[in-house]
Amino acid sequence: MLRFDPSPGREARPPSPARGEGKTPLTNPVADMPSDTSSLGVSRFLLLAVAAVGVAVGVGWAAGKLRPARHSPAPTNPPPTPLPATNRGEMLFGVYCASCHGHEGAGDGMSAVTLRPPPRDFAARPWRFAVTRESIRQVTLDGIPGTAMASMRAALTSADVDAIVEYVYHLATSRPLVVHEPTEDERLLREAGFIDMRGVDPPSLVVADGANKEVKLSDLKGKVVLLHFWGTSCVHCVKELPRLKEFEASLAGRKFTVLHITADADNLAEAQTLVDKVAPGLRVFADGTGLSPARFEVQVLPTVWLIGADGKVIGRAHGMKDWSAPTLRRLIEHSLPIAKQ
Ligand code: HEC
Repeated sequence: MLRFDPSPGREARPPSPARGEGKTPLTNPVADMPSDTSSLGVSRFLLLAVAAVGVAVGVGWAAGKLRPARHSPAPTNPPPTPLPATNRGEMLFGVYCASCHGHEGAGDGMSAVTLRPPPRDFAARPWRFAVTRESIRQVTLDGIPGTAMASMRAALTSADVDAIVEYVYHLATSRPLVVHEPTEDERLLREAGFIDMRGVDPPSLVVADGANKEVKLSDLKGKVVLLHFWGTSCVHCVKELPRLKEFEASLAGRKFTVLHITADADNLAEAQTLVDKVAPGLRVFADGTGLSPARFEVQVLPTVWLIGADGKVIGRAHGMKDWSAPTLRRLIEHSLPIAKQ
């Protein structure tokens, strides 16, 4: 720092940093002026004024010089490192997806335990759809019907979707792959287009036909049961009825039964009349309480649930099926209890 020597009669030296001792506080030249100013001549006063200006300039210069030192790292307090560029996709994923898929995308989010099918571990293969950005985008926008994977269309802007898709693609491709060889059951379900729900207890179900004959799902243990939720106003459902009837007939004598449950419980008679026309011989049931479509999460018609002979769910599927397809036959035949000889 600088020290000003105000001794009268001597010309004030321009402040020299070389003289700085680093400790002495700056003195105010005006305050340190001799008190007897009246005896000083005007020129002396001017000289002092010039000296004061010189000091002020010097102080400014020194402060400028010294300022960077204040920013140099203190021994105990390292300079803050710059924040990493925030990844918007990662942030959005944390908000919208991590509760199920987990922060690392390993399918182990907090809500994952209760979900059937479970959320995808993005590093695991196979996926239901392709591991491509387009597919991730579509799943994010539309969800996967019949699973907890809901449509996020309403929640996200298109820029948000871009960022999430990029991040999920990164999660899906940057961790070591976990290749999961599907078991035979898994393979059969997948090939038949069923969602794997093995081991889950089905909701309770009591239905009745037009003659008021009641059937309880829990009474059908020992048989494989296909619950076929359909409706008269659903064109696909009506179309597939004859095929489904043929399929049932081909398994006659086996431990297999189909319950055709109309979703509009109020119109059981009308539904039976329609079935008598397109697939005569089939009995139509309805749940008088009207609750079963909601309990069985029937969001799309037709929806089918396959219940094993042990009374537990095997899987469910949504949308029209080709009941002459070998994949469906393989799945259901594989599910049938082995006949005791
Ligand atoms: C409520 C739970 C839940 C949330 C929240 C959720 N998902 Fe999912 N997600 C699932 C489930 C369950 C599946 C697996 C469905 C299946 O087996 O096909 C899935 C599957 C996926 C798949 C895999 C598709 C395939 O082909 O296998 C992608 C991609 C995906 N989710 C992306 C997302 C993204 C992106 C978000 C956030 C915007 C998100 N999910 C939020 C439950 C969730």
